Amino acid sequence: MATRPADVSGSEQWDLTPRPPSASSVQLVRQMELPDANLLGNVHGGEVMKLVDSTGGLAAMKHCGGPVVTVALDEMSFMEPVYVGDVVTVKAMVNDTGRTSVEVGVRVEADNFVTGRHVHTSSAYLVYVALDKEGKPRPVPPVEPENEEQRQRQREAKLRREARLARKETILQARRAKGE
Ligand SMILES: CC(C)(COP(=O)(O)OP(=O)(O)OC[C@H]1O[C@@H](n2cnc3c(N)ncnc32)[C@H](O)[C@@H]1OP(=O)(O)O)[C@@H](O)C(=O)NCCC(=O)NCCS
Repeated sequence: MATRPADVSGSEQWDLTPRPPSASSVQLVRQMELPDANLLGNVHGGEVMKLVDSTGGLAAMKHCGGPVVTVALDEMSFMEPVYVGDVVTVKAMVNDTGRTSVEVGVRVEADNFVTGRHVHTSSAYLVYVALDKEGKPRPVPPVEPENEEQRQRQREAKLRREARLARKETILQARRAKGE
């Protein structure tokens, strides 16, 4: 599997061979420290979001075989607190692709190795766009699910994509109507 762009007469040629979601799977593990938290020892939501964006970006990069930027982050809830000393595990995998973008699903879990507390704290969906050398969006390889769970993730990712793009278009239409 080639993952690097090859320079062909000054232009870039990308490997667009379909690949399974599992090929993009990444996992980041980090123990949360004092600077990550408030005075009560609760880790800031923004710190968790940063880990989510970093891990999601790595999964997108792994799938696309090149640099990506975050273009959208769907809503994110924090269902359980994360404390200083907790070991946070962030798992990410590409669910589906458009022409130049990929949707990545990210799951955050926290463990306390002393008390045995284990919680699922957040899940989120992010969209990344692959960029060429000029910083312009470039084609990405399609996703080829290998099992029913991955097919379901792909179907649901397509529904979210439709909703995101429809929302963006509605806002643009409203601005155009007002002559903005
Ligand atoms: C990402 C970026 C290059 C896209 O530029 P653009 O002019 O919107 O380009 P396009 O219209 O060709 O869209 C590129 C892709 O982004 C997708 N996209 C654009 N806006 C989107 C949105 N609000 N939600 C989801 N996807 C979106 C498009 O659907 C397209 O994907 P597709 O080819 O799979 O359909 C540009 O918005 C950008 O540079 N944003 C800043 C990125 C960044 O710096 N991120 C870090 C956060 S600070």
